[in-house]
Amino acid sequence: MTNTAPPAEGRIHEFKTQSGADTVEVGRKLVKLLKPPQLLLLRGELGTGKTTLVKGIAQALDAAEPDEVTSPTFTLIHEYDGTRDGQPVKLYHLDVYRLESERQLETLGLDELLTPNALVLVEWGDKFKSIKKRATGEILITAEGGDARKITVTLKE
Ligand SMILES: Nc1ncnc2c1ncn2[C@@H]1O[C@H](COP(=O)(O)OP(=O)(O)O)[C@@H](O)[C@H]1O
Ligand SMILES: [Mg+2]
Repeated sequence: MTNTAPPAEGRIHEFKTQSGADTVEVGRKLVKLLKPPQLLLLRGELGTGKTTLVKGIAQALDAAEPDEVTSPTFTLIHEYDGTRDGQPVKLYHLDVYRLESERQLETLGLDELLTPNALVLVEWGDKFKSIKKRATGEILITAEGGDARKITVTLKE
């Protein structure tokens, strides 16, 4: 794993990984960049490692062990309690792949989730304008052949 973050005002961070375990480790490292409140789009094709990355984020927040973090494809949302710098953090992991309309999305009450200590990570959030509008950044995972991935984190501030 290499971190090739450019100096660009510290807002764009790039990582390369070669395995799922590598990506979990990047997730752990990312936590220090993610000061709540944040609503991040988790972008990338199916199977690129979006859920895998959340395993590391949850672990670093002492919110859940990697095994306990599974895809919220059917439940739509998983909620974990963690801590960051001694402060409580609410970690919300969503997968809105199956949602088809803004109307269905409303039932999730996204606005209520984004409290001051929340870290909201939304797989397929870029499907919805209302989520994109609220996003404070995004994490894009790109497959680069075999198990290689590029992970680009872009934070608005
Ligand atoms: N470099 C890598 N980063 C993340 N996952 C990887 C990598 N190489 C292989 N994998 C495997 O790819 C799969 C990614 O699955 P998952 O995280 O559920 O993807 P997504 O949530 O993007 O659909 C896992 O089985 C994981 O072990
Ligand atoms: Mg997933």
